[in-house]
Amino acid sequence: MGTRGNHDEKTPPFGLDVSLKDLQPRIVFALLLVGSAAGIWLSRWGSPFVTRGFWWLLVVSLGTLCGGLYWRLVLFDASDFEHDETTRAVSERWRHVEAFAVLALLIGGVGSVATGAAGRPLDPGEVAVGFGVALSPFLWVVLGRYSGDEWSQTSAYVRWLFFATVLGSLVGFVWTETGGHPFEQAVRFGHVGSFALWIGGASWHNFVVLPTLRAHPDAADEIKAGARRFRRHLPVVIAVFLATGVYQAVRLLGYSASVPVGTAAGRLVAVKFAVLALLTGLVAINLRRARKRGGPSE
Ligand code: HEM
Repeated sequence: MGTRGNHDEKTPPFGLDVSLKDLQPRIVFALLLVGSAAGIWLSRWGSPFVTRGFWWLLVVSLGTLCGGLYWRLVLFDASDFEHDETTRAVSERWRHVEAFAVLALLIGGVGSVATGAAGRPLDPGEVAVGFGVALSPFLWVVLGRYSGDEWSQTSAYVRWLFFATVLGSLVGFVWTETGGHPFEQAVRFGHVGSFALWIGGASWHNFVVLPTLRAHPDAADEIKAGARRFRRHLPVVIAVFLATGVYQAVRLLGYSASVPVGTAAGRLVAVKFAVLALLTGLVAINLRRARKRGGPSE
């Protein structure tokens, strides 16, 4: 943490407009990006760099939309907010994240299929991915059309359809990565699904909750209600990540203890393990801080 030694939470490090407390969600987001990049490097071993880049952008954008729409539909509750202005601020900020994720999905999806499936027929998984890539921008535009309060019922239906579409694409992604073997698919969906839930939550935390908190500090408790609901998922997410990760690692690399250091793939798995250990540590610090304060985690 730089040369400025111990400084309190109020003194942003390196003159950055970010307090130490704000840094933690950013570290979580960065760790999830590193863990997923290492995962794509493993699962697309030997593919050209640009193909792996597109598949990574695809899984990150699909994950952000699946996890983020789950938060918007299930964890976000407009009745938490006393003032409509705060509700609108939260919805508008999520809509911006959605726009970026849909754009990334378009680039990642077209690039993955173009570089990964050139000159051969698409498999059913790639067709499902393509369907989501094509439909998502349209659904995003329709959601913008029905954003007024008077359309809340219609926009809820369209948002559930959007969620089902990107979830269908995530299943297609898993299908194409596992060649359709049911047990492998279930394990991979557990792994990639955990990633989706966490990267969606981390996107909400960094790009919706924190900026809204800064703009509306008086509504802190209301804004954090969704974050508290999200955090209750994490112990299960971490357990599923670990179990599916270890299974995939043993299937890919074998049981020998020397694998983690002996091969490039083994070192990538060691990086992923370290990422999950760091993330688990941050979650534990948060839970302990919450217990000390005698209330739900901040
Ligand atoms: C937060 C941490 C982690 C994230 C974000 C993450 C994410 C991912 C992603 C996105 C993939 C690509 C899936 C695909 O292309 O189908 C993947 C693959 C993989 N992950 Fe993880 N993972 C994490 C932790 C772990 C851990 C702890 C292990 C092992 C102990 C692990 C082992 C693997 C293996 C072996 C693969 C490749 C599967 C294959 O192609 O056969 N992951 N991971």
